[in-house]
Formats: sequence, C-alpha cells, structure tokens
Amino acid sequence: MTVRHFLSTQDYSRAEIDALLAQAAEFKRSPQGQQLAGKSIALMFFNPSMRTRTSFELGAFQLGGHAIVLSPGKDAWPIEFEMGTVMDGDTEEHIAEVARVLSRYVDIIAVRAFPKFVDWQVDRQDKVLESFAKFATVPVINLETITHPCQELAHALALQEHLGDLQNKKYVLTWTYHPKPLNTAVANSALMIATKMGMDVTLLCPTPEYILDERYMDFAKQNAKDNGGSLQVSHDIESAYRGADVIYAKSWGAIPYFGRWDEEKAIREANKHFIVDEAKMALTNHGLFSHCLPLRRNIKATDAVMDSPACIAIDEAENRLHVQKAVMASLISQSS
Ligand code: CP
Repeated sequence: MTVRHFLSTQDYSRAEIDALLAQAAEFKRSPQGQQLAGKSIALMFFNPSMRTRTSFELGAFQLGGHAIVLSPGKDAWPIEFEMGTVMDGDTEEHIAEVARVLSRYVDIIAVRAFPKFVDWQVDRQDKVLESFAKFATVPVINLETITHPCQELAHALALQEHLGDLQNKKYVLTWTYHPKPLNTAVANSALMIATKMGMDVTLLCPTPEYILDERYMDFAKQNAKDNGGSLQVSHDIESAYRGADVIYAKSWGAIPYFGRWDEEKAIREANKHFIVDEAKMALTNHGLFSHCLPLRRNIKATDAVMDSPACIAIDEAENRLHVQKAVMASLISQSS
C-alpha cells in the first residue's frame, strides 16, 4: 500500500485542503475525539519550536493518541542522511535504520529540519524530510523544512474565520527586515496557500534578489491559474499595501546570497523601512495583519500593529492545534 504523507500542500488538491480545513473547524468547535486512540506520533525536532511542539503534543493527546518528542543530536543519536557514506564522523546511525525502526513503534513520524543556509541548491533538495519519507513505512508530516504546510492550513483557517470566502481577496506577502537571514519556508508556503485559495496575491520585497525559489513561484502561478486568482511581484510598498485585505509579514534571506550572508546583510540593513506599521496598514482596505510567530516586535511589525484588532497572529497560532489534528486524523484514517 502506498503511504500518504503530508509533506507539502502542493501534494493535496483544493478539495482535500478544503476538507482538512472543514475538519479543523469541527475540531475547534468540539476538541475531544478518539481518532488517534491507541496511536502514536514521533515528533523529530532538529531545530527549536514552541508552537509546533506544543500544539502537536496537545493535539495527539486530545484525540486519544500519544506523542514522543526526539531531538536527534541532543537527546537521540545524531543521524546520517548521505547514502553510501563511510560513517566515520559525528553521526551514529543512518536514516535507513532510524525511519524504519520508528515506523515499527509509531503510526506517524513528523519532522522539523531547517535548511543549513550554506548552499540553496543543497537545501532545496529537502534531504532530511525526503529521506524520512523514503524509508518510513508510516505517514510523514512536515513540521517546517523548506515549506511549512501546517502553518499554511492554520493561516488559511484564520483568514476564512475573519473574511469568509477568500476568492480574489487582495493578499500581500511582505518581506520584512530581521537581523539574521531567515528560512524562506513560511514565505514559500504563504504564496502557495494564498494562491490555492484563489486570492489575488502580491509578493512585496525590496529587490529582485528576494523573489522566492522558482519552484515555489511556479507552484503559486499554477495555483493562481487553477483557482481563479493571480500572482504578481512588487517592490513598491505604497501600491502593494493600498486596498489590501491581508498583510502577511515574513523575513527571509535572499537566495542568490546563500553562503555569502555578509554581502546580503547590507541589502537587508538598507530596507528596515519594510516594517509593518500603522501608516502602512492605514493604506489597506481595513486589512488584517498576520505572522506565523515568533516575531521580533518593532523590527518586523510595530507594537501598535501587533496589539491592534487587525492582528490575527494569535488566532493563526491557535489554529495550528486544530489543523494538525485534522491532518493526523486524516493520515491515520487513510493508513488504517
Ligand atoms: N510558527 C511556528 O512554527 O512556531 P514554532 O517555531 O514555535 O514551532
């Protein structure tokens, strides 16, 4: 039997995404269930987390299941992902054994593994997640690698709760300054889910170097075509914000500068004015503001924006719990 994973929303049709969102809304109304009774999930964290870890552990518990958290290299053996390698370095066991052994114990494996930020051509292979999916015999969930599909669902549910039908709503993904070059995962995901929901999407970034990887730009273009929305790129703050229904903020490092972050830093530093503030939000159509969190206040968005009624970041964070329960329940029902 082919195992169905949840690695990317691009592997799911619009109807399947709608069904997951409907199930998540149902879990929000009625949190307790037995969909995971007697089942377990291994949560593999190669990077830190607050929301993802808490919401998955709690979600499994609320559905009668059990979550086991492991941090390879910290409280579990460091894992080798290269094939055919002579393992005479720091790694103690190979993913070929790790994924298959875990599959004998648990019913779902979930993986957070950020890029290494040295060579995008290597990072874009998503080797850690893809290797788990290759060797596991149970479903694998992406907890954020080079995309963040659980965040996408939580974001979409929060937007639906506040705006209703999202078709052709004006959506702006704005790059913001951050002192460090961050992962492009949430930005890739924002473009994919907003276009999948048929929104009219603008990617607002300071220079062409901040345009996202062509794979995700192409997915977003195709989604826009399939779902009656649109996708455009803008470097002009005022025209992008004007009339927007949604402002979604995220910082990310420019892909052409991967491994040369000292050079990229100068561009980032010159664009601190991309911060989301009250003046920019005043240009919108009484727009909503959101962010995946964690967020550095008064760097990415001002206190006034974060504390305004327009900010739905807390709703979005809560929705992580509900959408992930829907994903776990769906994968378990398909693999039973
Ligand atoms: N948004 C998100 O994934 O939060 P954590 O990094 O805290 O899990």
